[in-house]
Amino acid sequence: MILNNDILERISKETRIAILTGAGVSKESGVATFRDEDGLWQKFRPEELANFQAFISNPDLVWDWYQYRRSIVRDVKPNPGHYAIAELERLFAHVTLITQNVDNLHGRAGSRNILEIHGNIDRNYCISCRKRYDNIEFKGSKVPQCECGGLVRPDVVWFGEMLAEEMIQQAFKAAESADIFFSVGTSALVYPAAHLPISAKQSGALLVEINPSETPLTHYADQFIRGKSGEILPEIVKELANQI
Ligand code: OAD
Repeated sequence: MILNNDILERISKETRIAILTGAGVSKESGVATFRDEDGLWQKFRPEELANFQAFISNPDLVWDWYQYRRSIVRDVKPNPGHYAIAELERLFAHVTLITQNVDNLHGRAGSRNILEIHGNIDRNYCISCRKRYDNIEFKGSKVPQCECGGLVRPDVVWFGEMLAEEMIQQAFKAAESADIFFSVGTSALVYPAAHLPISAKQSGALLVEINPSETPLTHYADQFIRGKSGEILPEIVKELANQI
């Protein structure tokens, strides 16, 4: 048994489940995280790449960095952790997936009810007229121009930017009405995302954290499961399926 009894006792088909994921769930697919030893922020400076001012000062550099990240995520596949999360939607009536990841791997694994609170790198929009350029495979490293002449940027949340208001409200609503909240593969350092598990717990959810390392959230968790999400999540989903 992986999940402890308190958690298993809460399980029925009607159990409300919310899941927050971070870069760790995509690591076993071959996508680097941000803050691990081999993470992106060890090699690149967020302030030069992931903020609006950087984009305005050096749009080609920032665009090229996103082209690089797109090329990585398009070449990889969802891993058993992504598929296990997608399976939850088939087992339970109320499942909300809240992801900080922009890599689209949850969608490719079959999850449907996803709040992509930090955006998605397959979507883009013009900074002047807001025309959308979604799911278009742009070639080359030069930033594309919109037909209005404006620059096209990736639809991701950069440092200093607000999250989409309605989406983050939905995320808090899902967290606050959850019976069980899973925090998976996130360092729980970036707000407001990191507040979701706390808010869930304060509203009565049992909090389960899955991560190979402890985080600031660990001491709040009702259960901390140390390990890789691609290994632990399929086991948990099997256990939950047997319980309903
Ligand atoms: P981080 O890089 O901060 O944290 C990744 C977490 O994944 C760490 O806690 C690792 O221990 C854990 N991890 C590593 N391998 C794992 C595995 N196989 N299974 C499960 N967990 C594993 O990434 P995030 O928490 O996602 O924001 O970072 C949050 C935000 O900071 C990102 O969305 C991004 C970044 O700046 C924006 O771009 C707005």
